[in-house]
Amino acid sequence: MTTFAIETQSLTKQFGRKKKTVVALNKLDLQIETGQVYGFLGPNGAGKTTTIRILLDLIRPTSGEARLFGQPTRRVHEVLRRVGALVEGATFYPYLTGRKNLEVLARTGDYFDAGRIDRLIHQVGMADRADRRAGGYSTGMKQRMGIAAALLGDPELVILDEPTNGLDPAGIQEMRRFISALVTEQGKTVFLSSHMLGEVEQVCDRVAIINKGHIVREGKVSDLLAERPRLHIDATPIDKASAVLSDHWRVAVTDGALLADAARADAPVIVRKLVEQDIQVFEISPQRQSLESFFLSVTQEEPDGESVSR
Ligand SMILES: Nc1ncnc2c1ncn2[C@@H]1O[C@H](COP(=O)(O)OP(=O)(O)OP(=O)(O)O)[C@@H](O)[C@H]1O
Ligand SMILES: [Mg+2]
Repeated sequence: MTTFAIETQSLTKQFGRKKKTVVALNKLDLQIETGQVYGFLGPNGAGKTTTIRILLDLIRPTSGEARLFGQPTRRVHEVLRRVGALVEGATFYPYLTGRKNLEVLARTGDYFDAGRIDRLIHQVGMADRADRRAGGYSTGMKQRMGIAAALLGDPELVILDEPTNGLDPAGIQEMRRFISALVTEQGKTVFLSSHMLGEVEQVCDRVAIINKGHIVREGKVSDLLAERPRLHIDATPIDKASAVLSDHWRVAVTDGALLADAARADAPVIVRKLVEQDIQVFEISPQRQSLESFFLSVTQEEPDGESVSR
């Protein structure tokens, strides 16, 4: 039997009482295997931070259960020692330096190691700023220190809520490499939430997309993106081409070309249909869907987040 790094069963969380209840999580089921970067995506208010806070036992679920490495977080607190986390922005003692803050945190967790702290400071690109007061840090600097803080105890599982929030482009790229290395070089498991879908697409092995507290899609990034193949067609006259193809495929005209929801295997048939109607075909090529467009299509499909089948 696989032991999952993270597992939730029918996890439900309601905030507020009676008429004012907000259902933040609605029977959320997750199973996350070890040794990967797993992306947790969803629009604002989808329930990502709520899930993470329950995983860390910062708040209690209304019903359902969350387990880390097979242990129910609420009842077996020791399992949290195997986890490092950054949740919605790190907070530091403003009058202490960044390094001192990390030292205090490490001592509290009983894993103080000055060498390790120094290495982490370098790894998150804070070597020249670690000895300044944390109160003067920018958002990105706090975020970098927050990531270092999450790794202080050398955790097996790293949970990061929007780790690239506030980072500049170079910082985002560094962070992506750093996160990948945590898995490939150190064998850790990383669970991260993010709105930076381009980054997620590059760094994550699998993703779960949630909306209104439940899963809309889950799977390997490459499988999800292959789900909706598209062909980019450059043909003239374009209106006629669009009319010919629209009987068989969903088509749209963008930037002077046609986009058809069709697979590569449909290309020969499409070319034949167009040529038969005296339409000139200049180019036809499969277009890889981005995670961003996939995300938008599945989170905007239906008000209740269920997918629409065509
Ligand atoms: N302490 C709270 N009291 C009341 N409602 C809350 C509380 N925390 C979260 N919620 C509600 O629960 C829902 C989910 O919020 P959550 O913070 O988990 O979303 P999120 O996916 O992290 O969004 P974002 O992308 O904006 O960070 C929202 O409707 C939010 O308003
Ligand atoms: Mg959040």
